[in-house]
Amino acid sequence: MMKKVILTGDRPTGKLHVGHYVGSLRERVRLQNSGAYDSVNIMIADAQALTDNIDQPEKVRENIAEVALDYLACGLDPQKSTLFIQSQIPELCELSFYFMDLVTVSRLQRNPTVKAEIQMRNFEASIPVGFFTYPISQAADITIFKATTVPVGEDQMPMLEQAKEIVRRFNAAYSPVLVEPEILLPQNEACLRLPGIDGKAKMSKSLGNCIYLSDEPDAIRAKIMEMYTDPTHLQVKDPGHLEGNTVFTYLDAFCQEEHFSRYLPDYANLDELKAHYIRGGLGDVKVKKFLNSVLQETLEPIRLRRREYEKDIPEVFRILKSGSEAAREIACGTMDEVRRAMRLNYFDEDFIHSQADKYL
Ligand code: TRP
Repeated sequence: MMKKVILTGDRPTGKLHVGHYVGSLRERVRLQNSGAYDSVNIMIADAQALTDNIDQPEKVRENIAEVALDYLACGLDPQKSTLFIQSQIPELCELSFYFMDLVTVSRLQRNPTVKAEIQMRNFEASIPVGFFTYPISQAADITIFKATTVPVGEDQMPMLEQAKEIVRRFNAAYSPVLVEPEILLPQNEACLRLPGIDGKAKMSKSLGNCIYLSDEPDAIRAKIMEMYTDPTHLQVKDPGHLEGNTVFTYLDAFCQEEHFSRYLPDYANLDELKAHYIRGGLGDVKVKKFLNSVLQETLEPIRLRRREYEKDIPEVFRILKSGSEAAREIACGTMDEVRRAMRLNYFDEDFIHSQADKYL
């Protein structure tokens, strides 16, 4: 049977926040512990981060440990998962180079993620070639591990489509050594796109609207109290609205039924709480206090585990180093197959003999 392999990762451009947690990290830990996968590979995509941080190599460098700490804090376990750094696998460059022959410029120009990011970063005409082609390099990340499953947010959907196309073209042109990956999206809507505390669609450091996994309890509480709710819900008795109400979006993403019996026993579940809010008579502060209890309970073990690893940073780098070595071994194995498929294995005995025979 075909092996089930997970590959996913993050650009190290900052600490990870609760959007990363519900969008991907929580799922990765669940998958890691499910026992359903033969291998789980989690990559810190430093080379990809450099494609749009050309002048900030220090920023990328300083965030390697931050992201690794967030991974370990969330429960990614180096005994069960391979945690590694993209740039330490030079075979990825080699595979990307060959993949470039399988993709057209117009196909890359149509990639919606690239389009959106070009706009967001004001690249327009001055886009670096490496940034423009990062879907190709991302396809190499995925396929060099023969990943079957890629747990990411929905913004990465076009990347997966591109990777599948490349696999199909490669396998048809050479021989079927690569595996078509499947995307694995978070199950619920709120987790797909968790808004910032200001209700804006995306959590981002520059907007100052993130709750970080490493935030202290007071900071978490203060951010929840600031959170955007329903601007028409002025008095407790007023009927409230759920659409665009960040507090309820967060409850959709984080809250479980058992949280009600612990922190808000007047309600059996989230549906009852929502119904009361819509009816009127339920104040924002009460809902925010409940969300605070839920988030504090969720984030405390993560923060405490992070603090433990922070005391032993050399160990964190040892984990990344041995993970990178293990990942490289897999990558080298695939590249041997790729070179053979592409007829680049000139120094194999059979090939040399066949060449010799030709001149007899
Ligand atoms: N592009 C992803 C992000 O910005 C990071 C990434 C790089 C990735 N290579 C990958 C994710 C391969 C999944 C698979 O978050």
